[in-house]
Amino acid sequence: MRYPTVTTRLVILLGKPLGHSVSPVMHNSAFAELGMDYCYLPVEVAAEDLATVFAGLKKMNLAGGNVTVPHKIRIIDLLDRLDPLAQSIGAVNTICLEQGQAVGYNTDGYGFLRSLQEVAGISPAGERFFLLGAGGAARAIAMTLAAEGAETIIISNRTAERAEALAEEINRVIRPCATMVSAGAQEQRAALADCTVLINCTSLGMAPAGDGVALDPALLHPGLTVADIVYNPMRTRLLAAAEKIGCRTVPGLGMLIHQGAAAFTLWTGREPPLATMRRAALAQLNRATL
Ligand code: ATR
Repeated sequence: MRYPTVTTRLVILLGKPLGHSVSPVMHNSAFAELGMDYCYLPVEVAAEDLATVFAGLKKMNLAGGNVTVPHKIRIIDLLDRLDPLAQSIGAVNTICLEQGQAVGYNTDGYGFLRSLQEVAGISPAGERFFLLGAGGAARAIAMTLAAEGAETIIISNRTAERAEALAEEINRVIRPCATMVSAGAQEQRAALADCTVLINCTSLGMAPAGDGVALDPALLHPGLTVADIVYNPMRTRLLAAAEKIGCRTVPGLGMLIHQGAAAFTLWTGREPPLATMRRAALAQLNRATL
């Protein structure tokens, strides 16, 4: 193992809490495998200290970083510019230092798309998506699906106004392909009948909160590919129910790996070793659930 020195390029993770993040082991194992003089450091920071901490970090030997809950939107005011997709999404998960300027990107939607392609062989063009949720993750995925040619995106969320606002924004900013449906079972069943891919973009089902599920599993049909952004546990209640009735399923781990891989390439200009990243992430997740 290579220890940090004065020449080591720093990559930071800004968020709070960060105790359960798998990004540090995922990226540090990739840097070690490639023999790169980089170090990925989680920096737990409260909202009121974010500006001060980030200003200090920028004065260090910083290559870039990741941003996670609860700073993905707040960080935007501290950046010099945004990549156009991050601008449309309105949230940043990756920062890159480019000629002294801090540039914001969002690789969450890309990560999801790569995982969907890899696990289920599905590309967005011509597909009809049903999205559960209208928060930050849903925004990134929905905007990216729309930009990549999805035929339809139907958004259903506990708070209907957020689903409506997101659909309207996609139609205005990207392409007219989105609608919303209320979270009632009857409405969801009718809308789902015609869809090919269902994606849970809510936090429901994530450990340790419990085994919640954002949609009544009785509404699933075998023609659906069912994807979950939750990766801990790997087999959420939604995915287990989907498997049982014969749906193809896409667990959240692939999105985690590929959003990280895209960020890695932005910081370093190199392709990361995906198998190493996956192994490191899985080992950490297994340790966490022991
Ligand atoms: P993130 O950035 O991780 O997407 P977020 O912006 O807080 O987090 O969004 C969380 C999503 O999960 C929202 O769509 C939220 O629904 P609301 O907009 O109604 O809050 C959804 N969600 C969280 N807890 C939920 C629950 N118990 N039932 C249904 N939906 C839930």
